[in-house]
Amino acid sequence: MQIEKVMVVGAGQMGSGIAQVCAQAGYQVYLNDLKEDIVEKGLEVIRKNLNRQVQKERMNEDEKEGILARFIKSTDLKDAGNADIVIEAAVENLKIKMKIFEELDQYAPEHAILATNTSSLPITEMAAATKRPEKVIGMHFMNPVPVMKLVEIIRGLATEDEVYQAVEEMTERLKKVPVEVNDFPGFVSNRVLMPMINEAVYTLYEGVATKEAIDEVMKLGMNHPMGPLTLADFIGLDTCLYIMETLHEGFGDDKYRPCPLLRKYVKAGWLGKKSGRGFYEYV
Ligand code: CAA
Repeated sequence: MQIEKVMVVGAGQMGSGIAQVCAQAGYQVYLNDLKEDIVEKGLEVIRKNLNRQVQKERMNEDEKEGILARFIKSTDLKDAGNADIVIEAAVENLKIKMKIFEELDQYAPEHAILATNTSSLPITEMAAATKRPEKVIGMHFMNPVPVMKLVEIIRGLATEDEVYQAVEEMTERLKKVPVEVNDFPGFVSNRVLMPMINEAVYTLYEGVATKEAIDEVMKLGMNHPMGPLTLADFIGLDTCLYIMETLHEGFGDDKYRPCPLLRKYVKAGWLGKKSGRGFYEYV
């Protein structure tokens, strides 16, 4: 199964990062979103990241231009007709993702793999929206994509071995480390990470310590690069809440109950770094 042409659906923070590492690895990349200005914004972030690499003399101007020349802007899912793999990185909403998968299944060539970057939603259910469940797989990148080494590869119930192998090889070509996981809510990464973040929010809610103290304990005591509340702001509090709800609903266990303070912040529109305010304020 030869992968050369990639389509990334969603040009936001995750989608643009995925597109960047694919183009850097030599793939031709269709970067797709609903509107051209969103695609252009994603490309602008990529250009900035590449310029930084040039400044740090890790890449020369020609290499940068070569990478940028591998992008094709797309606002039509029909462009999936040119792809060997489509990596969906749209909004974390199962209904929307299932609709995208249904459409991609119509347009993508028969051999094409349909992958999703979902952080916790069921791969098997998305696969069921297509007539090729054996070619559907999870490819969960971490934020910031250009920096983080892990790709959690999630097998749906019907995922073929050949598809898994092809995605594993592609991940290695992206200079990332693949880790195989089965399809359960939150997979491994968010099943372990989000309850820790949620517990950090509870310690703040219950007045155990200040936000700065909670973050300092985890940074200095556990050697985490960011404290859990800073990390929650970085991920987005709406995303954290959504993943906790997915775990709570998926396992039906109260140990995954989202902290009321997390709900309150999301209701206030305090979504973290992207909205300018979360547990901390950003200027
Ligand atoms: N895009 C590209 N590169 C970036 C970047 C971005 N958004 N942010 C930072 N970098 C690069 C910097 O350019 C720098 O590169 P060089 O070393 O080559 O100069 C390097 O990363 C380190 O950056 P900084 O020195 O500015 O800051 P730092 O040392 O604090 O590192 C960090 C920043 C890598 C984000 C680090 O704080 C970290 O690892 N934080 C935790 C991140 C994490 O846990 N991510 C997973 C989130 S969960 C998730 O993604 C899954 C989900 O489903 C929710």
